[in-house]
Amino acid sequence: MTIKRSSFGVFNSISALILAFFLYSGTAYAAHPDVSDSEDAIQAGQSLFNANCRTCHRLDQNYTGPALRGVTERRSLDWTKKFIVNSQALIQAGDAEAVALFREYNNIQMPSHDFLSDDDLMNLLSYIEYGDTADATAAADGEGTAEGQAGGIPSEYLTIILVVLVFVLLLILVVLGLIVSVLKKYLNQSQDLDQDDKEFINQKTDLKKVFTSDAFIIIITTIVLALVVKTALDGLYNVGIQQGYAPKQPIAYSHQLHAGEYEIPCQYCHTGVEIGKSANIPSANICMNCHMHIQNVDGQEGISPEIAKLYDAYDNNKPIEWVRIHNLPDLAYFNHSQHVAVAGLECQTCHGPIEEMEVVYQHSSLTMGWCIDCHRNTEITTQGNEYYDKLVQLHSESKDALKVKDIGGLECAKCHY
Ligand code: HEC
Ligand code: HEC
Ligand code: HEC
Ligand code: HEC
Ligand code: HEC
Ligand code: HEC
Repeated sequence: MTIKRSSFGVFNSISALILAFFLYSGTAYAAHPDVSDSEDAIQAGQSLFNANCRTCHRLDQNYTGPALRGVTERRSLDWTKKFIVNSQALIQAGDAEAVALFREYNNIQMPSHDFLSDDDLMNLLSYIEYGDTADATAAADGEGTAEGQAGGIPSEYLTIILVVLVFVLLLILVVLGLIVSVLKKYLNQSQDLDQDDKEFINQKTDLKKVFTSDAFIIIITTIVLALVVKTALDGLYNVGIQQGYAPKQPIAYSHQLHAGEYEIPCQYCHTGVEIGKSANIPSANICMNCHMHIQNVDGQEGISPEIAKLYDAYDNNKPIEWVRIHNLPDLAYFNHSQHVAVAGLECQTCHGPIEEMEVVYQHSSLTMGWCIDCHRNTEITTQGNEYYDKLVQLHSESKDALKVKDIGGLECAKCHY
């Protein structure tokens, strides 16, 4: 009697599949056990997050700062709290993790949040770990069309499906194991087996074979390939987006000092914002209004080397070669006066806390989704603007407030030449 060897092949492939599943599900993260997943905590955390963190963070997406979900797994709870309360203190104390992160994010300073109580911090972490699923956050960004809705199945369901699948496979494995042992017993009792077949029946399922089996290798290769493709796609979505870009400038000019400490109005230097399309970068002449007299910072002797560069440019009539940070492609039209003078928006809405920046960085993504998102949600300031009187009358029957989208803010031709 001869036994079909392929049935053992099936057994081996199923073991391989289960092993692969365990390896894969091992990559899912687990939040710190002290972080509560109660609805109340998540909700309290959400309002804190929206008020203090959303300008720079998303849960599942790198933004100005890193994606936050899973932070209590990759860092200790204590470290995470300290970092949120005062990241600069950790960085200045030389904490290796904090310093590495700070470097990775172009030395962007996260503001301190020392007003947050320990309860606040725990609620924030509840929201960060258990709040909105990827879809909700991406939709709130208005940029989710491509990424957020592609997933279809919410991630909790995916996890459940995975667990059930693993369970079913385990069950099959156990049943198969039983069948095999019953068969073995039965065959060992039968007399008419030659030596070869006996050996074959009594061989052990050895793990080494499982790992080197074709099935296992194919499954692992597929998973690795899928991960590589996903990473590449995520990368492609970000091509051309320069959020966080903070190049080194030819003169170490500081907004934190001039616009923050000395409160020089933005318009003093960026003369175009109220009147034209472009905000303008000031020429050396404007700097010299003050620096004719100011040659160094208090307590310094002689001319500061940074200001010497300014004098050199001014005396020799050389333009200072500032590196441009914000730069829309030529196909898009953006006008500052429309947004600053007419709409009355603050510079900080789009540019972030410039007055705290030692080195300017690009705060917003500047994608089309970003423009559209604001146009969908922002009401127009119509008071004191006669131009809008007729429109307001026409619109008064609608229940919704008059938004930018209602005056054509979503029309292609308004933003594209
Ligand atoms: C002005 C932008 C900004 C704001 C506002 C901000 N962060 Fe950050 N955050 C960052 C940046 C940038 C980093 C990366 C580290 C660095 O550059 O210091 C970071 C890092 C972190 C980290 C470490 C993440 C990791 O992977 O280890 C945590 C946690 C964090 N932020 C939480 C918060 C919370 C909570 C709030 C609101 C209370 C908040 N941040 C507000 C910019 C910000
Ligand atoms: C004393 C002059 C001065 C004042 C005041 C000033 N800026 Fe600037 N700003 C500059 C110079 C010079 C640059 C180019 C060098 C740099 O990027 O730091 C610049 C660059 C910028 C950029 C980046 C431009 C780019 O390349 O995309 C933004 C945005 C900006 N300023 C916004 C502001 C805002 C908002 C304020 C007010 C809170 C302000 N500035 C106040 C001189 C000034
Ligand atoms: C309205 C006045 C004013 C204008 C305009 C102005 N500055 Fe300043 N600047 C100051 C003051 C005040 C200080 C700080 C002096 C101190 O701390 O004692 C300073 C300090 C500096 C420093 C720091 C020097 C050092 O060694 O740290 C640099 C660099 C500088 N300015 C560059 C510029 C440039 C470039 C421009 C034009 C884009 C400019 N400033 C425009 C008032 C001005
Ligand atoms: C509605 C969003 C928004 C607001 C509000 C806004 N900006 Fe901008 N800013 C932009 C965009 C978008 C660009 C890039 C423009 C481009 O590349 O054509 C930009 C570019 C700039 C630049 C680079 C030079 C230029 O004109 O391209 C400076 C400087 C600047 N802004 C300063 C300011 C100042 C100062 C204020 C407030 C008085 C302000 N911005 C308000 C969106 C905004
Ligand atoms: C923070 C909110 C905000 C952002 C971001 C924003 N806008 Fe606007 N935009 C407005 C508001 C408010 C108005 C209405 C101004 C008015 O009353 O005419 C407006 C008006 C406009 C208009 C005139 C529309 C019309 O029908 O007259 C154009 C064009 C425009 N924006 C282009 C852009 C572009 C391009 C971007 C992105 C680079 C952008 N906006 C980003 C708030 C925003
Ligand atoms: C509120 C302003 C605004 C409106 C309205 C708008 N766009 Fe855009 N669009 C932009 C901006 C800004 C960019 C550049 C984004 C970037 O560089 O990432 C862009 C980029 C694009 C691009 C990509 C070009 C490239 O280089 O990849 C296409 C295509 C496009 N828009 C088509 C449209 C069409 C079609 C419509 C009408 C349904 C439209 N846009 C309406 C602001 C707008």
